[in-house]
Amino acid sequence: MITAHTRVAGVAGAPVRHSLSPLLHNAWLKEAGIDGVYIAFSPPQDGFPAFAEGMRGGAVVGLNVTIPFKQQALAAADDASDLARAAGAANLLLFHENGRIEARNTDGDGMMQALAAQAPHYDPKSGPALVLGAGGAARGAVAALLAAGAPQVIICNRTLDRAEQLAATFGSRVRAFDRPDWAAPDAAVVINATSLGLGGGPGPHMPWKSMADTAVAMDMVYKPLRTEFLAGAEERGLTVVDGLEMLIRQAIPAFEAFYGQAPPPQLDERRLLLDVLEAGG
Ligand code: ATR
Repeated sequence: MITAHTRVAGVAGAPVRHSLSPLLHNAWLKEAGIDGVYIAFSPPQDGFPAFAEGMRGGAVVGLNVTIPFKQQALAAADDASDLARAAGAANLLLFHENGRIEARNTDGDGMMQALAAQAPHYDPKSGPALVLGAGGAARGAVAALLAAGAPQVIICNRTLDRAEQLAATFGSRVRAFDRPDWAAPDAAVVINATSLGLGGGPGPHMPWKSMADTAVAMDMVYKPLRTEFLAGAEERGLTVVDGLEMLIRQAIPAFEAFYGQAPPPQLDERRLLLDVLEAGG
């Protein structure tokens, strides 16, 4: 039931209609009996600053932010968490009653928790991490891997310039290569943070055979759940981590920040989202 007390939060992106976040948060709200709602906003591509400014003071309690607004979200905020600042991107904005806008980045923690859940043997300190892509998603990944103690992070991107710029913001533990170097035989983990594979297309082509038996492959793409990238890694016998796990894990601290309590533990949110994905939703 929507009342005069309903707490409104949502997700802002362009495109945003494919997002599973409304389904996830609203299922948690319903299960917990919270007077709240979570909706999808699609501001114009060039209109994010005005959109965020209009929320100042608490028109909504908060927003998840997705493609292509994560860097603009950080810029729109008055205060930012260390991780958001390190990543240069925010996936969570909170609109406080005192008028201040706070930016956080829960993508990195979500990614590390997904790795811990589906690849428990993976130790970030054990070897270099290979990150494919240099956009907002890759930024969060690099920051989280460094924070978790990865000795080296290698960024590979189609556009070398972007990879180099990103690497330069992080210092000497991060190196940039262009696409022909999508190989890193000693990588302990390889993370697809490009949009390749989204919607079922081909993923980044990896030389899986040259990678170590203990390497872990993670894809941030969750539509489809079993991407070509993950299928190739699985065929090679590697442990794989899917994007759905990361989606759920990054959403938990956002829900807590919006509605003041943890998501209800009794809901099997992974099953719920799997059903939707399997039905082509
Ligand atoms: P996000 O914020 O989700 O990271 P983004 O900033 O648009 O989104 O980044 C998308 C990433 O996917 C980029 O690293 C992009 O490479 P470029 O920097 O060269 O554009 C990568 N990407 C997208 N399409 C690609 C393709 N066809 N081949 C290789 N990389 C691709």
